[in-house]
Amino acid sequence: MQLSAELTKAYNDQIQLEFESSFAYLQMGADFELRSLPGMGRWMRLQSAEEHLHAMKFIQFVLDRGGKLELQTLAAPHATPDTVVHTFEAALAHEQRVTRAIHGLYKKALDAQDFASLPLLQWFVNEQVEEEATVSTILERLRMVGDDQTGLLFLDRELGSRAPGADSGAPEADGAA
Ligand code: FEO
Repeated sequence: MQLSAELTKAYNDQIQLEFESSFAYLQMGADFELRSLPGMGRWMRLQSAEEHLHAMKFIQFVLDRGGKLELQTLAAPHATPDTVVHTFEAALAHEQRVTRAIHGLYKKALDAQDFASLPLLQWFVNEQVEEEATVSTILERLRMVGDDQTGLLFLDRELGSRAPGADSGAPEADGAA
């Protein structure tokens, strides 16, 4: 069953948001590297790559369902906040915005009885729980560290050990994820 025009638009909007997420984390990561926090820079760069993968999953789904991909202009990322804590707070706020968007998309698909959308969107609902939890944990630990520079450098090293491609368990849209 082909995607309706309304759902196609909703997916295209979500694709835009995922690419904007990728841009936002790329900017934050570059700014961390500039501040001599290479571990956090790497973490953000991997997060950016993951967001790109999210966009690609949605793109493949739209194409598989006979929808037309309409890429949109991407908003430039906000300026990265001055402190590490504020940067991760911005990341959490961004993820909460993405969660609301995914829930809105899920509701639209449900209302339209577009049952083929549900497994993909359920995966994204779960993914958002995980993403918010991960960023919240980092934030709590940053708050514990406070002004302790040694603690900050320790956390930087720990975040730098993030493995690439942690994304797994999604319904494979193209076999490449
Ligand atoms: Fe694709 Fe972090 O939401």
